[in-house]
Amino acid sequence: MPEFRPSAAPRTPPTAPVLKVAVVGTGGWGEQHARVFTDRTDTELVGVVGRDPDRTAARAAAYRTTPFTDVDAMLEATSPDLVTVCLPNEAHFAPTLHLVERGVPLLVEKPLVFDLAEADALVSAAGRRGLFFAIDLNHRYAEPVRRLKEAIDAGRLGDLVFATWRFGGEPNLGGSRHANLIETQVHGLDMLEHLCGPIASVMSQPYDRSHPGTVTTLAVALEFASGAVGTLLGTYDSSYAYPGTHLLEVNGTQGRGLVEDTVRRLTLSRAGDDVAEVWQAGYFDDEARNFHGTFDRYVDDLLRALRAGGPPPVPASAGRRALQVAHAIIRSGDEGIRVEV
Ligand SMILES: NC(=O)c1ccc[n+]([C@@H]2O[C@H](COP(=O)([O-])OP(=O)(O)OC[C@H]3O[C@@H](n4cnc5c(N)ncnc54)[C@H](O)[C@@H]3O)[C@@H](O)[C@H]2O)c1
Repeated sequence: MPEFRPSAAPRTPPTAPVLKVAVVGTGGWGEQHARVFTDRTDTELVGVVGRDPDRTAARAAAYRTTPFTDVDAMLEATSPDLVTVCLPNEAHFAPTLHLVERGVPLLVEKPLVFDLAEADALVSAAGRRGLFFAIDLNHRYAEPVRRLKEAIDAGRLGDLVFATWRFGGEPNLGGSRHANLIETQVHGLDMLEHLCGPIASVMSQPYDRSHPGTVTTLAVALEFASGAVGTLLGTYDSSYAYPGTHLLEVNGTQGRGLVEDTVRRLTLSRAGDDVAEVWQAGYFDDEARNFHGTFDRYVDDLLRALRAGGPPPVPASAGRRALQVAHAIIRSGDEGIRVEV
């Protein structure tokens, strides 16, 4: 297992030029964006952009940076090497397109957008410019997930047969009937393909009785291109306070990997063997047990790619792909049919 320690937030003097980063969005998760780039010694948070002057000034003061209420003014004043976008789920398109057109390297929050045509517009506009365009699908960087991926790639599970994803808690209702699927289960759709390869078809059972008009829970049967099958249970009718809020299981012909609560534990078992191998963060290992640290780890990898002039480790097209699968799931639920992706 390669070392992966909190280079996440390097506190040693930088060996390469410090990168200037600006954050658009001053909400709850936007604070993580401000924190990550302030914590590192190889980045400088050159500004935060918000709509509300007081809240933006408060965020900027907390992270000792400059507040802006206009994105173009920020670009003009700071010439950032990277801009991160952390706006409300359903308000991603126009500000992101504007930044793509300004040609600035970007890291955007999931979901990319809700509408597939908008996703295509963003990805192709960035592609035309050869722009560095990354999306934050940080769950891939959780230690149990990293280790499970290594075990799968090394063949320790044999041929994959089935995978299970279950995740969700309190509702985060927006204007979309499919907020749960598109903004929360995006992590599951991305994760299942990250570990098991492309999804070939989906069949969905939606539930919309707790908040009529909104699909707050859905159960989806999945077929992978490999022939493996899977299930996704995504919910807004549960609670993040419950133990075992998140579960990810990948079963193969020779073994099984079980991830609990994303960062809490990985159990790797061999078929027929009562003794399993368990990873869980050691007593002092706050870095690996910390969910927010998955974002630090992702940023660490992303900055390496940005500095090297390479493609982002998780490109925005991964967000477009998850959205494509989500729309197949929506159609399946609406029409009561199996839908190929
Ligand atoms: N990757 C993860 O693990 C993770 C975790 C939590 C949230 N998120 C994502 O982060 C994003 C933001 O979530 P949040 O909880 O911070 O949302 P939020 O609603 O708390 O904050 C969004 C902020 O953006 C501001 N805003 C809206 N339009 C703006 C504009 N045009 N310009 C500047 N500011 C504007 C709002 O006033 C608000 O302060 C969402 O896409 C969410 O899905 C990702």
